[in-house]
Amino acid sequence: MPISTAAPPAISFQNVKKTYRGGQLKALDGVTFDIPCGEFFGLLGPNGAGKTTLISVLAGLARATEGRVRVMGHDVVDDYAAARKALGVVPQELVFDPFFSVRETLRIQSGYFGVKNNDVWIDELLTNLGLADKAHANMRQLSGGMKRRVLVAQALVHRPPVIVLDEPTAGVDVELRQTLWQFIARLNKEGHTVLLTTHYLEEAEALCHRIGMLKSGRIVALDRTSQLLARTHSTMLRFKTDAALPPDIAARARVTGRIVQVTAQDAAEVETTLAALRQQGVPVEDLEIGRADLEDVFLEIMKGGQP
Ligand SMILES: Nc1ncnc2c1ncn2[C@@H]1O[C@H](COP(=O)(O)OP(=O)(O)OP(=O)(O)O)[C@@H](O)[C@H]1O
Ligand SMILES: [Mg+2]
Repeated sequence: MPISTAAPPAISFQNVKKTYRGGQLKALDGVTFDIPCGEFFGLLGPNGAGKTTLISVLAGLARATEGRVRVMGHDVVDDYAAARKALGVVPQELVFDPFFSVRETLRIQSGYFGVKNNDVWIDELLTNLGLADKAHANMRQLSGGMKRRVLVAQALVHRPPVIVLDEPTAGVDVELRQTLWQFIARLNKEGHTVLLTTHYLEEAEALCHRIGMLKSGRIVALDRTSQLLARTHSTMLRFKTDAALPPDIAARARVTGRIVQVTAQDAAEVETTLAALRQQGVPVEDLEIGRADLEDVFLEIMKGGQP
């Protein structure tokens, strides 16, 4: 009798490596982690970190050079059909057949997975993704954001237990972002596992139970979102100025146009920072003092610092 009857994780990556250009480029350099069933997991990393490569290996679109990947216990190579059926993938690139209507596109995808008479669910997807009035439109008549909505509907059409979203909100307006996240959060509450990549860190902070950070093909941080946030300097000073910053402050500041953000360990460091600015005659406008967010943690980790 087996001692443990624990269900396999929804997704399991074991020492996944992927090289390109005859081994010169290590897109994935030994990625190992599991995503348990029901989790909402965020995969973050700068451009070129390997996020899409990892998702391509997961979806069977690319073959790992080394390592194993399983979806709901199914190996993505040896048991491809079962692994693929358990997944709904929203790809980063917009790919679609321009000659079909939105409804036809969804019916075809449904048929591909062997799901017949699926119009009730297709209608629910169209409504939830704000596409109901576009059901008969040809794909080529849709705007970029609407095509992305169809890609989301396509990924969900066979009700996969594991949903993978590779930057689903790139180029999507604020209203759809909100409806999309409400819908995905509902599916997650109903038991679907979600793997999300995004460059909108506030989305990841709001939605994800755990977050993994990829840098040059390696996981450099992986923790509960709350734990990652607790790791950072707790206070953030934000202000606007037109003047040059003193070098010691400039070295630890993030500057976007006139907006300056500086982290501080505690209240005393807030005071010394402000005093230094005053002493140097740097005028400070619209000063805000708040908590550091996931973006601060991300930038510190990517700089190679130890938050
Ligand atoms: N088919 C390919 N041939 C050669 N190199 C590739 C290929 N696909 C990806 N790469 C390289 O692998 C690395 C990882 O790319 P990947 O697309 O996974 O990054 P990403 O984290 O998804 O980035 P982004 O945030 O820009 O989407 C990059 O250096 C990229 O140039
Ligand atoms: Mg990508």
